[in-house]
Amino acid sequence: MSIDATPDVLAGLDAWRDLPAAQQPEWPDHGALDQAVSTLASYPPLVFAGECDNLRRQLGEAARGEAFVLQGGDCAETFADATADNIRDRIKTVLQMAAVLTYGASTPVVKVGRMAGQYAKPRSSTTETRGDVTLPAFRGDMVNGFPFTHEARQPDPDRLVRAYNASSATLNLVRAFTQGGFADLRRVHDWNRGFVANHANMRYERLAADIDKAMKFMLACGADFDAMRTTEFFAAHEALLLDYERPMTRIDSRTGLPYDVSGHFVWVGERTRDLGGAHVDFVSRIRNPIGVKLGPTVDPSEVLRLIDRLDPEREDGRLTFITRMGAGQVREALPPIVEKVTAAGATVLWICDPMHGNTFESSTGYKTRRFDDVVDEVRGFFEVHKQLGTVPGGIHVELTGSDVTECLGGSGAIDDLDLEKRYETLCDPRLNHQQSLELAFLVAEMLQER
Ligand code: PEP
Ligand code: CO
Repeated sequence: MSIDATPDVLAGLDAWRDLPAAQQPEWPDHGALDQAVSTLASYPPLVFAGECDNLRRQLGEAARGEAFVLQGGDCAETFADATADNIRDRIKTVLQMAAVLTYGASTPVVKVGRMAGQYAKPRSSTTETRGDVTLPAFRGDMVNGFPFTHEARQPDPDRLVRAYNASSATLNLVRAFTQGGFADLRRVHDWNRGFVANHANMRYERLAADIDKAMKFMLACGADFDAMRTTEFFAAHEALLLDYERPMTRIDSRTGLPYDVSGHFVWVGERTRDLGGAHVDFVSRIRNPIGVKLGPTVDPSEVLRLIDRLDPEREDGRLTFITRMGAGQVREALPPIVEKVTAAGATVLWICDPMHGNTFESSTGYKTRRFDDVVDEVRGFFEVHKQLGTVPGGIHVELTGSDVTECLGGSGAIDDLDLEKRYETLCDPRLNHQQSLELAFLVAEMLQER
């Protein structure tokens, strides 16, 4: 039997239209927008309600310290980079990190890609000026093109449909790679051994040797390695463009409740988490597990109101706060927020985004981040939660599987002059493959002391 949504639920899904929506493009052609929106509404779901429920349960475990969450992927996915090799390498990087973190945490690691939908970006300015030319800012491939020309920068609603197609192709590969033997734990562990052999560092070697012993022990005990041939991998992105998220929202026939089937997990960004705004209203009405980014200027009482609004039933795994305070501020800015949430009796999942509070411009003019700041913010996050007796439940990182030079430092010692060699991101700087694995080894150590 299938259950219909109540009229109230259906009307609620469009309540955001009467509220201020920050960071939306000005589509020049409304006829084309309507057409793109109805095309999207006619397309099949990219993810399924039952998968979202499953992720919500696993995030609930992470909120209680029974699992750890790894979210990772591009700052901005691009259509051009949605290739098999790129997608494979990003999945591989996340799987390798997850294997190391699983050992450190001694709990399952929930793997979530910033993938298959991360095509729209909030911008600090609506326009970009070069010389005496001013054009609309690049808002992600879902909206307009990156080249600095009048044509490319015009918002084009057809891009909403292209984003759906690219996300669909990406998810198809994600499912194939994680179900088809590529994700086999033994294979992932072999890649990690290769990494450690090539990047001699005593600390990583010791941990990798410990994992090796654990694998041999499991084998000797007759552990069921067949069960480790596949893994679950979830898709997440910022729910920024409501003209994409709304038509991708469907009523689950088992429950009559709405799910945003563009991704398993969606979050609201630092610039759109206004309590009276369209984004908070929209995500309050979907059943997916949802996240909200919190930066250093957030008022703790606002955080409590977000909980009342987004998780009124106080359901473990429903609401994640992704904190991005900056390495220099996390130890002062995070405690008052966590304390207030705990005192209010709410269990949320705390995840650390050590990227967005640590961005600056290099002497050579590139938007960059220091690997050491990234590590230090995660360390501060663990320290704060340890002091307060709360759970550091995961990390959220911008990364790629290739050898780009976008963030400074790491054992490859990327410096200001190296940045130009392979600076490929269209938005924020990402950790490269090596820096990502190094971070995983360092966080695994922190987890052992959690
Ligand atoms: C992002 O995650 O790429 C982003 C824009 O983050 P924030 O909303 O935290 O600034
Ligand atoms: Co970013």
